[in-house]
Amino acid sequence: MCGIVGYVGKRNSVDVLIKGLKNLEYRGYDSAGIAVCENDKIEIVKKEGKIKNLESSVSSLGSSHIGIGHTRWATHGPANTVNSHPHRVGCVTLVHNGIIENYVKLRKELKDLGYSFKSDTDTEVACALIDSIYKECKDKLLTMKKANEKIIGSFAFAILFDDDFDNIYVMRKDSPLIIAISDDGNFIASDVPAILEFTNKYILLEKDEYGVISGDKVIVYDNDFNILDKEILTYEESLDSAMKNGYEHFMIKEINDEPRTLTATYEQFFKSDINELLCNMPDFSKYKSIDIIGCGSAYHAGLVGKSFLERYADIPVNTYLASEYRYEKNFSDSSTLTILISQSGETADTLAALRKAKDRGIDTLGIINTVGSSIAREASKVFYIKVGCEVSVATTKAYSAQVLILELMALCIGVRKGIISLEAANDIISDIKELPSLIEEEINNKPSYDKIASLIYKNEDIFFLGRGIDYSLCMEGSLKLKEISYIHSESYAAGELKHGTISLIDKGTPVIGLVTDPDLAMKTISNIKETKARGSFVVLVTLESIFDEYKNDDFYDEVITIKDVDSFASPLLAITIFQLISYEVAKLRGEAIDKPRNLAKSVTVE
Ligand code: F6R
Repeated sequence: MCGIVGYVGKRNSVDVLIKGLKNLEYRGYDSAGIAVCENDKIEIVKKEGKIKNLESSVSSLGSSHIGIGHTRWATHGPANTVNSHPHRVGCVTLVHNGIIENYVKLRKELKDLGYSFKSDTDTEVACALIDSIYKECKDKLLTMKKANEKIIGSFAFAILFDDDFDNIYVMRKDSPLIIAISDDGNFIASDVPAILEFTNKYILLEKDEYGVISGDKVIVYDNDFNILDKEILTYEESLDSAMKNGYEHFMIKEINDEPRTLTATYEQFFKSDINELLCNMPDFSKYKSIDIIGCGSAYHAGLVGKSFLERYADIPVNTYLASEYRYEKNFSDSSTLTILISQSGETADTLAALRKAKDRGIDTLGIINTVGSSIAREASKVFYIKVGCEVSVATTKAYSAQVLILELMALCIGVRKGIISLEAANDIISDIKELPSLIEEEINNKPSYDKIASLIYKNEDIFFLGRGIDYSLCMEGSLKLKEISYIHSESYAAGELKHGTISLIDKGTPVIGLVTDPDLAMKTISNIKETKARGSFVVLVTLESIFDEYKNDDFYDEVITIKDVDSFASPLLAITIFQLISYEVAKLRGEAIDKPRNLAKSVTVE
């Protein structure tokens, strides 16, 4: 949520900042701006909209050795040029990622000191605060520490002071920040993709740490101003994995990554059989209950995980939206495992939920993609899903890998408890190993998705229907469709529709029915028929064997079949189909698939 980047060194900072911002645009794209030092003076260029608007406005800038940049996801005040970063007050210019909760109080105090404000933002208030503290104490480190003490909320700041154009100053609380290192200059950024074109060596700035970065030196201090010996990390993924690789959009590139990334997900636990999985996965069978927490798609992955853990591992599971978990009474204790699911590892509500669980002494497990992210570092244990950089705002490969890890946990606990035999477990493992090639086959079935997309893309309301796990998968399918196509879409438990919502079904309303559980097929199909009787246009997604049994029933208009596989593999095949249909629908509607309006990839505000 918001991306910040900075550079100081031998290169022209304008070029570095624009390249960095382009690679961070997935974090927000309401507006963008840069501040560079040219002839010992700060020059600021800001533009509403995407980075390309900014890019065409920076040509007037000369060469500069130092600068900071920002791509915004609006929180305080509309997405316009005045509210864009960088902000400048007095002798301070800065960019900010996060939210300052006490900014109204601070603004009042600063107004009393004579400051006035041009924008609606909390960031301009922080800028004035830092300026006022610096004017008084004349010490930059002390200024940052005092600002840190006064500001309530989450933040990472990159700051330029007018009397020092050799250094970028950085500080952070709960928003991520890295410092990257190269032979011809040093960088700061919210996330690794911003700097990968220049270097893969970086330092993670932690909460309450301060950095002073020049062209050839990086110094990091703790809150008592001790110099820290920070580990220099190497980002192992290639830039390619963060780039489109010739695909039209990141989303379709990332769906195409799934066969490879799902293999990487399970191969960290096994390559051959269940015994290997049992050796490599910790023993979770001691827990009496599990809480699963996440937001959006990560929450949806948790719902699928709940079904597997309850059915195959016989453990009661509660699933929570992270934003609700924080404020609900919670009955878990030391016999509960709390699982936090997050692609970014930085989602503010999920991070806060993790801290709440930890404060109560509960064991926590993060299922995370971004290595070294806050949740990954703070959880007692972490499983990385290993899907590489996911750039498209709508998650695809990360969701699938999250589901797979939860399934593997259920499988392991089920075997350890004697609920699943070793032989049955090995059959499941064979099906999981077949998944990558089956997903590849599905991806190659593009004409089917094109056809269905062409039949439904002009509608403004679409319903997804399913029962059990299929309902959870429909929730994710529906979210995928609505977030990138802007079609209103709802997912309903198949049996629930008739308790009110069926009144919305009209002639031609698309209903996408998912039926992957043979035991529930008859019931769900009856519910689909209820909509058909009211004129819906039914797209059936089902297993080949279920289709064979019901194909002569007149209740569907289009069908996509899924290979007959074990119940562990079918959710991942079903979701890929939904991802592909959503992608083709959004494409026909001409929407900004990778960067849907109003959204950002990493939601670091509560
Ligand atoms: C939807 C989507 C979001 C995220 C949610 C949580 O496609 O990507 O719903 O799943 O914002 O993000 P993470 O997983 O980074 O915590």
